[in-house]
Amino acid sequence: MTEHISISNLPLERWEELKQMRIQGVKAEHLSFARTAEELESDTEENWRKRCAWRIGLDHKEWLVIELNGKPIGYVMISVGEPMKLRHVGYINGMYISADYRNRGLGGKLLGEALRRLKENNVIKVRLEVIVESVPAVTLYKRFGFEVLGTFRKEINSDGSYYDEFVMEKFL
Ligand SMILES: CC(C)(COP(=O)(O)OP(=O)(O)OC[C@H]1O[C@@H](n2cnc3c(N)ncnc32)[C@H](O)[C@@H]1OP(=O)(O)O)[C@@H](O)C(=O)NCCC(=O)NCCS
Repeated sequence: MTEHISISNLPLERWEELKQMRIQGVKAEHLSFARTAEELESDTEENWRKRCAWRIGLDHKEWLVIELNGKPIGYVMISVGEPMKLRHVGYINGMYISADYRNRGLGGKLLGEALRRLKENNVIKVRLEVIVESVPAVTLYKRFGFEVLGTFRKEINSDGSYYDEFVMEKFL
């Protein structure tokens, strides 16, 4: 069967799919995301619909969802600085590919599209934070030209243990 891959915003009426995928992500990779499943589960339908509606050019942030044959299998959240003097700075706020679909280049496709959208919105450099232990993510970001600027020590507190994060940056 030929595989059809699309990367886009989910329409508002599919907000629950974004919610379920986010919850799946934080449960499977609790170190990689700042939010907990409980925080996401208790959030309102109105807020989930809003997230689907965000557009980088208007709202300074946007969720992009990657679908394989119509099924959401991952996401990335991108944003730009809100004050005028920071509008040229873009961020990758979080990225996830469902475990069954990893290591086939889909994360790379999603990241490529995220960077394309940021550049299209006048961003000249992109920054992100990633937990030091997330070797596949760090490998992927380095492949795309992100460099480690430094380390935020004990940045994530998960279940009473502290974890360091790399700050990475890339000029577009
Ligand atoms: C990071 C993530 C999105 C990558 O998705 P993916 O679809 O597997 O991405 P790709 O297949 O395009 O690339 C993965 C890269 O990781 C590398 N990789 C995978 N496992 C690895 C390991 N144990 N050690 C070193 N590199 C590894 C792959 O070789 C590949 O690099 P390459 O293309 O240079 O060979 C996915 O692993 C994920 O969702 N991880 C959990 C959440 C997370 O860490 N998110 C980032 C936080 S901001």
